[in-house]
Amino acid sequence: MEKQVVRVGLMGLGTVGTGVVRLVKEHQEDLFNQTGLGIEIHKILVQNKTKPRGISDTYEDIAGIITDEPDDLLKNPEVDVIVEVMGGINPTKEYLLTALEQGKNVVTANKDLMALHGGEILRKATENSCDVFYEASVAGGIPILRALVEGFSSDRITKMMGIVNGTTNYILTKMSQEGADYADVLKEAQALGYAETDPTSDVEGLDAARKMAILSTLGFRMPMNLDEVNVKGISSVSKEDIAYGKKLGYEVKLLGIARCDDGEVEVSVQPTMVHKSHALSSINGVFNAVYVYGEAVGETMFYGPGAGELPTATAVVSDLVTTVKNMKLGVSGRGMVAPYKEKRLKPDSKKYSKIFLRLIAADKRGVLAQITQLMADKNISLDQVLQQPFGTSGQAEIIMVTHLAAKSDVDEVMMLLRDLDIIHEIKSCYRVEGGE
Ligand code: NAP
Ligand code: HSE
Repeated sequence: MEKQVVRVGLMGLGTVGTGVVRLVKEHQEDLFNQTGLGIEIHKILVQNKTKPRGISDTYEDIAGIITDEPDDLLKNPEVDVIVEVMGGINPTKEYLLTALEQGKNVVTANKDLMALHGGEILRKATENSCDVFYEASVAGGIPILRALVEGFSSDRITKMMGIVNGTTNYILTKMSQEGADYADVLKEAQALGYAETDPTSDVEGLDAARKMAILSTLGFRMPMNLDEVNVKGISSVSKEDIAYGKKLGYEVKLLGIARCDDGEVEVSVQPTMVHKSHALSSINGVFNAVYVYGEAVGETMFYGPGAGELPTATAVVSDLVTTVKNMKLGVSGRGMVAPYKEKRLKPDSKKYSKIFLRLIAADKRGVLAQITQLMADKNISLDQVLQQPFGTSGQAEIIMVTHLAAKSDVDEVMMLLRDLDIIHEIKSCYRVEGGE
């Protein structure tokens, strides 16, 4: 007899896992109408079986299917699909490889794992004719991975820019709009379930870097390694930088930037001054957005909640629906296209952007001329300058935005500026996007 119900082994019953249970339970009829099969949560793996869980009060059957024994899912012949929302690299990677060896399809929200070991996991899936989908790993509820793989399959993507970490966008928005304190807002983001267990990976940009590695691998169709993404987080962003940025028409955003020019690629994550004329400058709170430029289509934007229980669960359960449809059609594991383009990393001399610089200098005749001459010698010219007295000891605060400059030239200028007597301190330096 043909299968009537697909049985899911759910790994993790935290923020996302709880959302997955809710959606599967509450959307049964819709899920059946779309797949023609029932979807049942058969077993749930957790770390601590005795932990009280609100979801067990709503659904009485949940308590009876919770286990702390991984093989109750992985080696259980009744389980068809593993939905992994427990996070981490170990033991999660081994669990997923075992699941695939057992012929079980996999849905995961785990960007850490997919950014580091995605290649190995996808190869194992192909060997075993299984699906692995990971839509929730990037930008929570926004279906951006499916858009890149399917929606842009006829186009060539040359640029992607993303606000892909909800925690840092929440922090920067509160700092910008309410003058809130960094540490206080980080605590709020943790309480709301946006931040990672160790929020260092959010604030230091690593979470966004993992997502940009996944986006650029799929978007540019070339295998991008996490250690090829240049990363800087937001812990050094000050209220002063945000205020001066605003004065000149910019909002500070933690931006993932991926560019592919003439087959050469650069990917970075860094706090960036985004000009108010660019749609990404108005993405606030925990919302995420990904800007994608395709040679044929031009500019596109994807916007939505990047974290949280139900938004993330929608992406997970949508992957589950696709998995079940593929099982029904007998095409599991056949839809994946491995990155097929040769990767060439762009040298710093070809990485162009505008730069925002804030420095403290001696307030005397000729200082600005000396700085601009030093920049001109390295092919850098200025677009905007703001100068005002700083403190009471004959110093000036100078804020400059350059025209497009090569990263190699900017790095040299920064070294030379540090050696100049008239420069007392370089307060900050940001990449600038938008406003061309
Ligand atoms: P979470 O709230 O910390 O929940 C983790 C769950 O996994 C808990 O139920 C925990 O068990 C269980 N678990 C952890 N380690 C385990 C182990 N070794 N063995 C068995 N069970 C284990 O995490 P989350 O926020 O739901 O995130 C889950 C995944 O989704 C992560 O990969 C995360 O990066 C990704 N993600 C999260 C969001 C979000 O908004 N939160 C958005 C997109 C992607 P106990 O309950 O017993 O502690
Ligand atoms: N900590 C992540 C964020 C969760 O803040 O975006 C979603 O991946």
